[in-house]
Amino acid sequence: MMRILGVETSCDETAAAVVRDGRDALSNIIASQDELHVEYGGVVPEIAGRAHVERISAVVERAVEESGAALDEMDAIAVGSRPGLIGSLVVGVAAAKALAWSLGKPLLGVDHIHAHLYAGLLGAQPAPMPALGLVVSGGHSSIYELTSIIDPRRLGATIDDAVGEAYDKVGAILGLDYPGGPRIDALARDGDDRAFDFPVSRLDPDSLDFSFSGLKTAVLYAARGAPVRSGREVRFQRDHHDMSREEKANIAASFQRAACRALLLKLDRAYSFLDSEGRRPRSLLIGGGVSANSRLRAELIRFAEERNLDLRLPDLRYCLDNAAMIAGLAAPLLEAGRTDDLTLRAIPTTQC
Ligand code: KG4
Ligand code: ZN
Repeated sequence: MMRILGVETSCDETAAAVVRDGRDALSNIIASQDELHVEYGGVVPEIAGRAHVERISAVVERAVEESGAALDEMDAIAVGSRPGLIGSLVVGVAAAKALAWSLGKPLLGVDHIHAHLYAGLLGAQPAPMPALGLVVSGGHSSIYELTSIIDPRRLGATIDDAVGEAYDKVGAILGLDYPGGPRIDALARDGDDRAFDFPVSRLDPDSLDFSFSGLKTAVLYAARGAPVRSGREVRFQRDHHDMSREEKANIAASFQRAACRALLLKLDRAYSFLDSEGRRPRSLLIGGGVSANSRLRAELIRFAEERNLDLRLPDLRYCLDNAAMIAGLAAPLLEAGRTDDLTLRAIPTTQC
């Protein structure tokens, strides 16, 4: 048996978890900072970094305690070391180094985006390879081909906003609290998804990249009317105070239809491309905060069924940022000898 302690502090969640054999989460502690950032309408890096410092020790202690094992029974220490806010990442990286050094155990720096792809394997059998992967989070929207779980190759990514970012910006346009994603998901249930015909960006015919900024702008104009120029000032005709709940629900539902359409369209292109190259995927790995979205989940289930893909949709608790996905992915990385030494550094960008 192998137990790995994982630490995750890349953005605004302070998290720690213990995972057994890359599969079973023995504990999964997440201290969300949403309430610290809500009044600013987004994550404030300075506040996030400081909150991680205040919380990290207690979060790690609880994760170890709830796992039923002792700290010195951990076989390795893993940490999300990239990508993210640098002032947040360094807190987890420093904590993980201190633990690995004092316990004399291996240290693994894990890519947070790569770990999102692993989230659907927690509590499940390994996925048949090759796999097609989709990460939809607040900072990334990317498609991957995986020939093994430790080797994702990026096929496409967003050229502007991430899909979660678009959800959060549309949430702000509709006057919803941060983060807007889950609130739009709920509001859309009462709306008509055909009320507005928002644009679905296709880019070049064979592009596997995404673009969500045009959709965001279309929503802005639908909600506020066309901008009116008076002298140097640009003003909108109205704002969210002037909209009924029904109007907001219709915009939320129509936005969601367009956003999901864009994701599924590129996923289908990627699948067809790999198939035509003789590399037909056998499974579909999904991860990131937006994979908690009810409409996207339903559409992905249909997509996978139609193509006979073994779909790995994470449990809701593993969609958002968490440390179980970090500790889980660390198991096959450790097995492959991909450990780090104490020179491990926090890096703001992803390497996959
Ligand atoms: O993966 P994550 O926790 O953080 C990053 O690594 O970025 O993703 C956070 C994103 C936010 O943009 C949030 O609005 C979005 O996930 N999100 C959702 C839902 N729950 C969270 N978006 C749509 N529907 C949801 N149910
Ligand atoms: Zn994330």
